[in-house]
Amino acid sequence: MRFFIIGDIVGRPARNLLKNILKNMIDKNEIDFVIANGENASGGNGLTYKNYQELISCGIDIITMGNHVWDKKEIFEYIDEENKIIRPANYPEPCLGKGYTIINKNNINIGIINLSGRVFLSSLDCPFKTFEKIYNTLKKETNIIILDFHAEATAEKIAMGWFVDGKVSLMYGTHTHVQTADEKILPKGTGYITDVGMTGPYYSVLGVNKDIILKKFITQQPVRHELAKGPVQLNGLIVDIDEKSGKSIYIERYLKIFEN
Ligand SMILES: [Fe+2]
Ligand SMILES: [Fe+2]
Repeated sequence: MRFFIIGDIVGRPARNLLKNILKNMIDKNEIDFVIANGENASGGNGLTYKNYQELISCGIDIITMGNHVWDKKEIFEYIDEENKIIRPANYPEPCLGKGYTIINKNNINIGIINLSGRVFLSSLDCPFKTFEKIYNTLKKETNIIILDFHAEATAEKIAMGWFVDGKVSLMYGTHTHVQTADEKILPKGTGYITDVGMTGPYYSVLGVNKDIILKKFITQQPVRHELAKGPVQLNGLIVDIDEKSGKSIYIERYLKIFEN
């Protein structure tokens, strides 16, 4: 079964790109299942209901989130009702939304977990212990389990990779918006990459207009973020997972720049 993972979708330029190319790409590459991180899809922060629906209609099967999950307040109204969006599972209980789910596609159960790191991010519950609890539930239902570990520090993500090796089919990182060149299949069969990267403005600082961010760094004054214009990059990951064993058998980074 072939999976396509899309790194943090940043704003309208990225949404428009996906609207224009994703369905074609799914057909051409014979992709069975698409997971995308949507925490920055609406103006760079959060995800409105309209944009959630838009992304799902592009061919995305499930949207994962991160530290920006609550930035658009309307998510409080819809996150409990919708079944194609999950937020980091280690937000303390009680918290709106779900941290993991199972989606049945082509008669195959696929478990998806979203977790957040704690280094340079909010001090949520322990992602490692949270993983163990969820894993013990999910493994009874399916051997295809995919983890989006939304975290800042490379060491925390690499450590999580070793923690879940042989338990999940694939663990990938999100949040830094910078794709790492370390995709691999770990010894016990878990596909791994420290960060998938970003889908958004190519000439930017993590999607934001570079002049604004430079002003912030140089003057130390607060600034209002605006997304950058120009070409848009699509950062992703193509992974083949053996349906019987649940192990990754092929992993390839995807990086393409589109004129806008
Ligand atoms: Fe992000
Ligand atoms: Fe993030």
